[in-house]
Amino acid sequence: MAGIILLSILGIAFLMLIIITYYLHHLEKDDQFDTDANESLWNKLGESKSYVYTGIVLTAVGIIAVIYLLVKGSPWEAHLMEWLNIIVRLMHITFGIAWIGASFYFVFLENALNRTKDLREELAGNLWAVHGGGFYYLEKYKVAPQKIPKDLHWFKYEAYFTWLSGFCLLFIVYYFNAAALLIDKNVLDIAPAKAIGLGIGSFFIAWFIYDLLCKSPIGKKSVAFTIIGTIIAIAFAYGYTQVFSARAAYIHFGAMLGSIMVANVFFVIIPSQKAMVKAAKENHPLNPELGKNALKRSIHNNYFTLPVLFVMISNHFPSTFGYKYPWLILCLFSIGAAGVKHYLNLKEKGQLSAWVMPISALILLAAAFISAPPKNPGECNKTVSITEVTAIVNKRCIACHSSRPTDDVYKVAPNGVMFDTPDDIVRKKDLIMQRVVVTKTMPQNNKTNITQEERDLIRCWIEQGASVK
Ligand code: HEC
Repeated sequence: MAGIILLSILGIAFLMLIIITYYLHHLEKDDQFDTDANESLWNKLGESKSYVYTGIVLTAVGIIAVIYLLVKGSPWEAHLMEWLNIIVRLMHITFGIAWIGASFYFVFLENALNRTKDLREELAGNLWAVHGGGFYYLEKYKVAPQKIPKDLHWFKYEAYFTWLSGFCLLFIVYYFNAAALLIDKNVLDIAPAKAIGLGIGSFFIAWFIYDLLCKSPIGKKSVAFTIIGTIIAIAFAYGYTQVFSARAAYIHFGAMLGSIMVANVFFVIIPSQKAMVKAAKENHPLNPELGKNALKRSIHNNYFTLPVLFVMISNHFPSTFGYKYPWLILCLFSIGAAGVKHYLNLKEKGQLSAWVMPISALILLAAAFISAPPKNPGECNKTVSITEVTAIVNKRCIACHSSRPTDDVYKVAPNGVMFDTPDDIVRKKDLIMQRVVVTKTMPQNNKTNITQEERDLIRCWIEQGASVK
């Protein structure tokens, strides 16, 4: 029975992956403004296509929901979540790479265009490139070509699907397990539903503020905009760490920036492009503001990318979110990473600046420096035995980290880490040092109330050679 459930989960999940890829491919085709009749069965479906897609996706989601209800409360539940996590994460990364890859490429193109030598009147610039065994020649028009070509490629589903899969992941990882992962009672004792509401609500508020700022007169002054924008971002980073567990705060900060990026694509960049195509087709004069506006938003997105990528990987590095002022590392790293992006942008334009890179590197180093563990964590005035350590571990860790966890959330040992025997503890001593002593990110959100004395005992035992005798 269980085997069948598992097989169906896998089958459905992979099916979803295929469906969405197919979905993506065809939706792109729809956008090519292709007016010629195409006789394929798919095209004959016409308008009803989108209903077919929606139906397929909803059915897939429905089936997964039914499976979830079937396995709820059994060890299969954690397994289902793990596989959902793997698959949605893979989708998220893949769409993200496609989106950010294209976005980096176009910013590079914009920066690297030849804008002076041998250009036709209608061109803003061109670029010769060699890639993958072929030569490419690209031209950018000042406004639009005389006639809009029939096949026009659009870049947008990458962004939308990155956001959708990311949003799913936020639910799978954080919201389904809100009490364990989203909320840290030592930060704020808040009800899960409230915390989730705050999390989702914050994305809307962030977009509202950002969009207002862009449209205000400040939006036209890049220095003022950068300073005010950075201050607001710092306020968000700080706010998140006052509500959520540090790790969840990081992810929310990244998701907030990511949501602004996708909203830029959805609400500004694509509509501007559509208006431009429409005007060009109907031979109306083009409003150059449209293109400028879209370009401005896409430059903002470009600066957000490295901070967002940092946040996405920071969840695997407890020394970042484990620092006592997690928002500070988050801000320093984000500012430093945006600075690095600024340097790369300047470099592509051939405007090398002597100070952008060193300052950015200094900011990043400052983050590494302040989060370093204290040089002298304290004296050990007695030899700590394995018996004492085992007693602490039994009291504070094995609720989760054992072959038979008793924790209410973790029914299988997280990351496969079990401390059933003294040897298990010795083998993981470096990780234990990092998580329990240095970053204090274990026990998770200190659910089992470990004390500082116990952390010190564990440290002394490891410093004294982690002996099992
Ligand atoms: C409430 C459950 C819970 C308790 C109690 C708990 N942990 Fe964890 N532990 C987790 C989870 C979940 C993870 C995986 C996520 C992560 O790395 O933060 C984890 C990961 C770890 C890791 C990292 C494993 C890796 O592969 O990187 C170590 C080491 C660890 N725990 C040690 C401990 C120690 C030592 C204690 C007791 C002092 C402890 N944990 C108590 C839930 C718990």
